[in-house]
Amino acid sequence: MQIIVTENYERSCEIAAKMIADVVRAKPDARLGLATGGTAGAVYANLIKEYREGRLDFSKVSTINLDEYIGLPPEHPQSYRYYMDHNLFNHVNIDKQNTYVVSGMGDIEQNVADFRRKVQEEPVDIQLLGIGANGHIAFNEPDSVLKEKAHVVELTESTVKANSRFFDSIDEVPRKAITMGIREIMSAKSLVLVATGKEKAQAVRGLIMGDVIDSRNPSTVIKLHHNATVIIDNALYELVASQKD
Ligand code: GLP
Repeated sequence: MQIIVTENYERSCEIAAKMIADVVRAKPDARLGLATGGTAGAVYANLIKEYREGRLDFSKVSTINLDEYIGLPPEHPQSYRYYMDHNLFNHVNIDKQNTYVVSGMGDIEQNVADFRRKVQEEPVDIQLLGIGANGHIAFNEPDSVLKEKAHVVELTESTVKANSRFFDSIDEVPRKAITMGIREIMSAKSLVLVATGKEKAQAVRGLIMGDVIDSRNPSTVIKLHHNATVIIDNALYELVASQKD
């Protein structure tokens, strides 16, 4: 696993965006694995900038997202479909038919089955990841076991609380989501995880220090990937180094 420590979050996102852009430039019909959350925002802003400046073409690109809340329709501002449309897709020349965010509405069992099928259609060339303060990747929450394939997940109290900052009140945060499974995430040809913020220090310590793979910190599985990069800023790195296990 490659670890890059940058001067700040903005630089981390520039580097992650450049990695994604380089994949698309080398393979114009690349399949991108995309993430939502506050951290990913500036990665997308950089990709939009590259597109506007004529250095990136999304016309043949396809995408698949990691997860979606159950119960939020696509037009809900906190749904991950809405996030992707507004933070990336509406601003570049991607064909929306080639973008996939699992639906959190209607027949959930059917949606999970569709998601699993969709993941298998074609390998992801590069998967962008964030990390939850509890170490979750996508919505694979800390547990005694991890699941291979897409599934419904009950969000932990800490995730509901962390994500409540995007909602008017904590009561509006969905308690369930559909997430890509661990094996599916790991099947991407390359992974790039960006982390920032002091609340992530303990989880990131588990990820970048020591050699433990621990289902109570799901991010640690990416140590097993042959082409994974973790990008963190120096402020977070210093906190990580000063944490106790
Ligand atoms: C959400 C998403 C994750 C994301 C995480 C971190 O719960 N499901 O994919 O990595 O939160 O988000 P943030 O960057 O907002 O801290």
